[in-house]
Amino acid sequence: MEIYFAPLQGFTDFVFRNSHAKYFSGVDKYFTPFLRVEKGEVRKKDRTDLISSKNKEIIIPQIIANCKDDVVILVQFIENQGFKNCDLNFGCPFPLQTKHFYGAGIWDKPQKVEEVLSALKQFPQMSFSLKMRLGNTSVSQTLDLIDVINSADLQFVTVHPRLAAQMYDGEINFSAFEVLYEKIQKPVVYNGDLKTVSDIDNISKKYPKLKAVMIGRGLIANPFLAENFVNKNFDFDKHRFLLFHDLLIDNYLQLYNNSEFMVLDKMKTFWTYSFRDKKLLKKIKKAKSLQEYNSFAVMTVLEKE
Ligand SMILES: Cc1cc2nc3c(=O)[nH]c(=O)nc-3n(C[C@H](O)[C@H](O)[C@H](O)COP(=O)(O)O)c2cc1C
Repeated sequence: MEIYFAPLQGFTDFVFRNSHAKYFSGVDKYFTPFLRVEKGEVRKKDRTDLISSKNKEIIIPQIIANCKDDVVILVQFIENQGFKNCDLNFGCPFPLQTKHFYGAGIWDKPQKVEEVLSALKQFPQMSFSLKMRLGNTSVSQTLDLIDVINSADLQFVTVHPRLAAQMYDGEINFSAFEVLYEKIQKPVVYNGDLKTVSDIDNISKKYPKLKAVMIGRGLIANPFLAENFVNKNFDFDKHRFLLFHDLLIDNYLQLYNNSEFMVLDKMKTFWTYSFRDKKLLKKIKKAKSLQEYNSFAVMTVLEKE
């Protein structure tokens, strides 16, 4: 069973992906946050993100599309950048997307699901995958379209077993997941709330046919998680973590033209899902300069007050 790094807008940009792949093992594929069409072309920020991506063979660009034209614009760009894979986002829960039938909102319009999936036929040389929720408003929305999913040209389907209204919290619906796990006639990837090695172990034992598990917040909180699962250990090499952390700072300084304010803001977000001491995390959040931030970050990792 493989391990995939989930796409997380605001977290897993090219700087993060390149740096994580340099210092940690265990992740088989990294998914990019979704690329989107803006004013008839691929959004500039998304183009930069993909162009600056290293390790192309293990990167899967993700797109958000609700019609054939979006698919064509986005996939042509991805293909021109030398990628051979592309993931479709049918799960984004934000109303800004869903109300226009993008992300999880596409399940409200079955004809759009069909249009997007049949547009993939125009790119027989590309491998496609789908990342989905249980539906936008109800599980029946995806169950009713199982035949459409099964007849699409998809290499695998990732299921995050929540409805859009639940956003990223609220109980995971395992019984609905099990129905999809059995009915989807493609390799299935499980995604949702895997935070520890034993979480990954349990899910892989419970669902032995899984192609992979996809992990987002768990890998942000602990970048060693995939490596620990593969190596069957719980090692947290503080020195290696700090080298990774330094590289993030250096590369964000470069990306943001040495704007300390922007880098400080960016670096603070990486502690959002941390399981570490709350008092130390509070200090990180309140740091007013990059130097102050860095000394608190180092203290937190070394667990010193
Ligand atoms: C801040 C944030 C940004 C996200 N951005 C994306 C995205 O661009 N594309 C996508 O398919 N999912 C996105 N997701 C969903 C994650 O990929 C994943 O499905 C979700 O966090 C559940 O997995 P986890 O519990 O392992 O984090 C995002 C989630 C969060 C919290």
